[in-house]
Amino acid sequence: MSPTEKTAFDERANAREYYGQELACTADLKTTACCTTESIPDYVRAVLPGIHAEVLTRYYGCGTAFPPDLAGLRVLDLGCGTGRDSYVMSKLVGRDGFVHGLDMTPEQIDVGRRHRDHMAKVFGYEESNVEFVEDVIENMDRHFAADSLDMVTSNCVINLLADKEPVLRQIHSLLRQGGEFYFSDVYADRRLPADAKTDPVLHGECLGGALYEGDFLRMARRVGFVDPRLVNCRTIDLEPDVAALTGNTVFTSRTYRLWKIEGLEDACEDFGQVATYKGGHPAGADTYTLDREHVFERGRAERVCGNTVRMLSETRLAPFFTVHGDFQTHFGLFAGCGTEAFRRRESVGEQSGCGC
Ligand SMILES: C[S@@+](CC[C@H](N)C(=O)[O-])C[C@H]1O[C@@H](n2cnc3c(N)ncnc32)[C@H](O)[C@@H]1O
Repeated sequence: MSPTEKTAFDERANAREYYGQELACTADLKTTACCTTESIPDYVRAVLPGIHAEVLTRYYGCGTAFPPDLAGLRVLDLGCGTGRDSYVMSKLVGRDGFVHGLDMTPEQIDVGRRHRDHMAKVFGYEESNVEFVEDVIENMDRHFAADSLDMVTSNCVINLLADKEPVLRQIHSLLRQGGEFYFSDVYADRRLPADAKTDPVLHGECLGGALYEGDFLRMARRVGFVDPRLVNCRTIDLEPDVAALTGNTVFTSRTYRLWKIEGLEDACEDFGQVATYKGGHPAGADTYTLDREHVFERGRAERVCGNTVRMLSETRLAPFFTVHGDFQTHFGLFAGCGTEAFRRRESVGEQSGCGC
């Protein structure tokens, strides 16, 4: 099935029914697709004990969908559910930041709303820095102005949407320059046939609507996120009865960061620049991981491409890096990166089920 072909299946109604009626708690899930099976990082683990139990019992996320350095940011959590991530981010953004959670399913978002005052008290805030908006994601631009958000996140949600490209386009428009869409979702290593896409359980479990990785990367580039960076990737083990419905398809849960930065190029170009991590970032005093391919040790100068320079120097990461060099002299495609390396990674991904 081509990526643009539509089916008569109503994705929105199915997701509302699945997350409103079918599931009452995480244990009701029929697969591990919408489960966070990887280890939970310390900056999340430290906040979780304070989150209300009712919020946690209906958590259906598939990854760690946000980074630790959120202080002072205005964040939008798309498909926030009961608000588990929204509340962890409420702590991380602090008093000066704000988190907007948006979800269409009343049974989910009402739980989050109920605990606003309680959670504010737990974090020592006079008033809550979280609001919940009940609406469909496709309407997000009715609630938020262009260039107004520092970060958009979502955890295991984009796969459920019928038409993903216009949503990605809206996210790009709502982000301010230097902002990012940092999110976790389920992907497939091939385009799924129509009967898998329209199976209510497969769709509800975040498998049927999973994008083929290649289509996602092309879509992201088309809407302006021209250099998608993979942060994390794990292969999803399917139960035999589910695997029987999806054949040889390999599903992965992936966390990507998509920066909105003017001047990013669709390939990594070499301008002879060097970046050094100065330390002190909340993600790690001695090591900073920008993405799976860019891990910086404090004090060690690394050759970097022009796009990476922009990510490190034109965003909130700037205070933590020293960059030497400018964009005056071009030395060709960045060795070990750029389009050729990207293609190589894609083909490795097809063999291993995890292009990372
Ligand atoms: C797999 S759950 C994840 C919930 C939450 N992010 C979490 O980690 O617990 C998917 C959520 O997306 C919401 N959702 C799906 N499609 C939506 C849409 N078109 N507009 C708004 N919310 C949607 C559902 O209501 C559900 O709460």
